[in-house]
Amino acid sequence: MKHILLVEPDEKTGAFLKLNLMRSIGCDVTEAGSAAEALSFLSRHSVDHVICRHSDSHHFSNIPLIIMKLEDSWKNIVMKTGQALGLNVNFMENRIQAEYVPVSLNYFNVISSYSLECDVYIRVRKNENESHYVKRLHAGDFFLQSDVEKYREMGLKEFYIPKEQFTSFVNFVTEKLTGDIANAKMERQSDAYEITLDRLHSLGIDELTVELVNESIKAMEQSLKNMHGLTQFLHAMRANKLSYSYAHSYLICLILHKIIDQFEWDSTKMKDRMTYLAYFHDISLENSDLMKINSEELLEEASLSREEKKQVLNHALESANIVERFPKLPLGIGTILKEHHGSKSGMGFPETLSISIAPLSMMFMVVESFVDQFLEIHEPRQEDLIGILQKLSVKYNKVIYQQTVQALESMILKQKKKAS
Ligand SMILES: [Fe+2]
Ligand SMILES: [Fe+2]
Repeated sequence: MKHILLVEPDEKTGAFLKLNLMRSIGCDVTEAGSAAEALSFLSRHSVDHVICRHSDSHHFSNIPLIIMKLEDSWKNIVMKTGQALGLNVNFMENRIQAEYVPVSLNYFNVISSYSLECDVYIRVRKNENESHYVKRLHAGDFFLQSDVEKYREMGLKEFYIPKEQFTSFVNFVTEKLTGDIANAKMERQSDAYEITLDRLHSLGIDELTVELVNESIKAMEQSLKNMHGLTQFLHAMRANKLSYSYAHSYLICLILHKIIDQFEWDSTKMKDRMTYLAYFHDISLENSDLMKINSEELLEEASLSREEKKQVLNHALESANIVERFPKLPLGIGTILKEHHGSKSGMGFPETLSISIAPLSMMFMVVESFVDQFLEIHEPRQEDLIGILQKLSVKYNKVIYQQTVQALESMILKQKKKAS
């Protein structure tokens, strides 16, 4: 097994990095709190790589180094390490071989007094070669610092977690130490969305991008559960600095989720698809000004280079192409992405309403059109919303388009009733 020495003065950072390295790469990790401590370890042992911060790097001359930069996320560091060791990284799977995994008692300091999601064992040595494991804390039990202290006083340094529960232990500790993204404030989700888009455009789709997208979508779904309507969204938008592209995708998704119940469609499956659609529809565009263009006329007026105009014209098709490379997406997402401006080919902004595109595409177009106009208004009032609806009902006067306008109307008017 590859052995890594991790030099990290911050105990918490070191702790969850170690766990995630062990789990995702399956390597052995020794922690050191300082360069001095690391050097003393190296005088007695050899390791494959040292992970340290740039400021410590000059201490380690003959050993391959992995430098942690300030802007690196823990996932970045795990990825880099996997690459350096020539080992596959897998964030989902547990790479641990042993039956029971030793974890330092120190983890139980940083996560004090929680109910754990795994059983905790101690090892009892029978003889030189044999030991057995005794369960001491049960999954779901609350534990107290004093419980852990008792073991420490007895000289115990490590607890043991069963291999199959190790992932849930790592997730639990990571969540407690970093604050899980799904529970983060919207502002952080918006930042995460931008970072994900950036990464996708600059580095393409790799394992980490896919992971980031999945996490970011999960966060959006989570936050949507607690979001009840436009008014609440406006409050949240004022309280958080949200990027245009995030607000745009988020609001489309929120409205789609709210109105779908008025249609006779299987809404659970539909909601899942809608979240992906809202998240991905403009993913091929690199800046939010380009996302605001939704007609030939606006494209004509915009002062853009030829290249940019082409990008805008083909963005629906391009988004569909990008999405094809993401594994495990709900079925049929590509088609709707292509059609999200009303053309079957995914190119251009047709003036006439097509009735040959998918019903969900029609619904998406109306909702997006509403959101585009809604986000243009600085402080939208009820009259503004009614104004938007009137314009929409003139333009979208057929089949599902029309039903979507009606569903929007009833959503907004119902909200008004509740407020008064
Ligand atoms: Fe859009
Ligand atoms: Fe678009």
